[in-house]
Amino acid sequence: MTKAAKTIRKIAGDEPIAAALVLGSGLSAVGDLLKDKVTIPYGELKDFPGTGVSGHGRDLLVGSMGGKRIAILTGREHYYEHGNAAAMRPALETMAELGAETLLLTNSAGSLDERFAPGDLMLISDHINYAGMNPLIGEPTDRRFVNMVDCYNGELRAKAKAAAEKLGISVGEGIYLWYSGPSFETVAEIQMAIRLGANAVGMSTAPEVILGRFLGMKVWACSSITNMGAGLSNENISHEHTKTMAVQGAGKLQKLIPALVEEL
Ligand code: HPA
Repeated sequence: MTKAAKTIRKIAGDEPIAAALVLGSGLSAVGDLLKDKVTIPYGELKDFPGTGVSGHGRDLLVGSMGGKRIAILTGREHYYEHGNAAAMRPALETMAELGAETLLLTNSAGSLDERFAPGDLMLISDHINYAGMNPLIGEPTDRRFVNMVDCYNGELRAKAKAAAEKLGISVGEGIYLWYSGPSFETVAEIQMAIRLGANAVGMSTAPEVILGRFLGMKVWACSSITNMGAGLSNENISHEHTKTMAVQGAGKLQKLIPALVEEL
């Protein structure tokens, strides 16, 4: 068992968690919903996400939501922070060791598709790893050859859609293309991503999906659309804008995620 898993058990108790939830830029408010919450700063957890990016939290929360015990990672570590695509591996391994069979991922993303406007949610149905990096490079075992068919679990997507419909939240599905960042895309890159069949672009998530499947977890991911991709609208694309616009998506995720967790 990882050292971090031992620390979490000591502080939050031995009861297994059903799911782990990772919150993207500006989405920390989703963590407010957790009941009987225990907060553990990443700094106390060996190899958990490091320095951080503004708009991201730096705590692990353990508590209950939708009648299940879950852990929330209020911030993630990105490939663009240091060039390590496996930065989230220790944290996700720890989640698996604590019993998480489901990994729920959220992010902020730029839309390439007129179906998704800023403030909307897009359920990720598949991804294109355009950054080309892989968190399993260097993994010595044959387990590295992960099957990525249906890596965004179809059953969880169906449950999320049903829950969203009940809540009156409109969600569509789309393909997420991972650019490394941290610079935003050029206008030409956005046009290329559209031609490649992507519906949204972002700087995270894909490596965590690979790691989640590697660890045998069912994976679900949802983008909170904060802007249209470069050149697709007149809005100014910036990290400040991302954090401001993420609030709308966070409000919807605050309703959708507990409803989904209830159905796990
Ligand atoms: N591109 C990449 N990542 C993003 C964007 C974008 O337009 N918006 C929010 N995250």
